[in-house]
Amino acid sequence: MTNKYMYFIANWKMYGSISSINSLNKVIKFSKSKEINKGRLIYCPPYTLISSFSKKFQNCQIGLGGQNCHESETDGPYTGFINARMLKNAGAQFVIIGHSENRANGENDKLINLKIKNSINSKLKVIFCIGETLSEKRKKKTKSILSKQIKIGLNKIKNKSNIFIAYEPVWAIGTGIIPKSKDLYETVNYIKSKFKGKPPRVLYGGSVNPNNIKNLKEVSNIDGFLIGGASQNANKFIDIVKKTYS
Ligand code: 13P
Repeated sequence: MTNKYMYFIANWKMYGSISSINSLNKVIKFSKSKEINKGRLIYCPPYTLISSFSKKFQNCQIGLGGQNCHESETDGPYTGFINARMLKNAGAQFVIIGHSENRANGENDKLINLKIKNSINSKLKVIFCIGETLSEKRKKKTKSILSKQIKIGLNKIKNKSNIFIAYEPVWAIGTGIIPKSKDLYETVNYIKSKFKGKPPRVLYGGSVNPNNIKNLKEVSNIDGFLIGGASQNANKFIDIVKKTYS
C-alpha cells in the first residue's frame, strides 16, 4: 500500500481515433472520485487528438501531453512536424521527450537536449525518457548509459523543476517483462543520485499492467508510471491506479 503522490501517464503511442474520446468518460469520472486524491492522471494521445482531449478535460484535473515535438522553438518550414509552442497552444501541459522508440529512429542525446530546452521555454513540463537496451544491460552498462543520457540530455538546463524522468528499460517495453524489484529500486536510486539538491520525480515505464502493478508499487522510490499498451483500455488504466493505492 502506498500513500505517496503518484503520476500515472498514459502514452497512447500511434493508437486512437476520434471515437476513443468516448472511452475517457469513465476515466474522467474516476479522476473526480476519492480513490485518486493522492495522484495525477495524464494522457499523451497522438497529436491529432490533443485539442479534442483538451476540451474533454476542461472540467477535471487530468493532465494532457504530447508524445514528442520538433526541436525548433519557432515555427518554420518543417513539413510534418510540430513544435512545443504548438503543443502548448493546443492545450498540452506536458511533453514526452527521448522515448526509446524515437531514439531508435535516430534521435540522439544532443537533439533530445535541444527539445527539452525548447519545451521548457514553451512552459511545458517534460517527461524525459531514459533507459538501456537489452544488450547494454547484458554488458552491465546500464548505469553508464543512464548517466550519459542524463548528462547530455539535461546539459545546461539549470532549473529542472519541470522535468520528470521516466526510466524505461528498452527490453521491458511491450515485452511483458519487468525488472526485478531490487534492481529497479537500485536503478531509480542511481538516477536520483545524479542530481544535486532535490531529485526530480522518477517514473517507471515498460509493460506496466494491472497484474504486475502489485509488485511495482512496492518499489518505494518510484514516483509514478508511464504506461503504454494498458493505458489504451480505460478499465485497465483505472485498475492500475486503484491497485496502486489499495
Ligand atoms: P508498454 O507499457 O506498452 O510496455 O509501453 C511502455 C512505454 O513505452 C511507455 O512510454
